[in-house]
Amino acid sequence: MYSEKVMDHFEHPRNVGEIENASGVGTVGNAKCGDIMRIFLDIDDDGIIRDVKFKTFGCGAAVATSSMATELVKGKTVQEAMKVTNKAVMEALDGLPPVKVHCSLLAEEAIHAALWDYAQKKGIVIEGLEKPKSDIHEGEEQEEEEY
Ligand code: FES
Repeated sequence: MYSEKVMDHFEHPRNVGEIENASGVGTVGNAKCGDIMRIFLDIDDDGIIRDVKFKTFGCGAAVATSSMATELVKGKTVQEAMKVTNKAVMEALDGLPPVKVHCSLLAEEAIHAALWDYAQKKGIVIEGLEKPKSDIHEGEEQEEEEY
């Protein structure tokens, strides 16, 4: 049911962890399954993503998609990172079962939320980037911070 790439990224997730004083941090959750994903971006003065780490409290597909998403944005410019959609992540993983598509959406949203945080801190506008809907820093789900 899962591709070899999904299994590989699930069993050996890349870029797990946190970045202290990150340029941008995004935390998103899916209310239905309760899974949470947090992405940390380290972005240099040229707008290049030098480092990226993630923490995912969720299903195997969420772990695999966050792992792949971090690999896809690493070393890229902010604008290039905007092109890392859930579709791109799924393609890079050789597909996901239909019931797991929302997990890859969480990865895309987490990257966007981290980019949004970066843009807010820098006082800049990233073309095409909208305020994340499910950034749980914004909502009443602050207690999720404890996870
Ligand atoms: Fe919800 Fe995978 S089941 S993120």
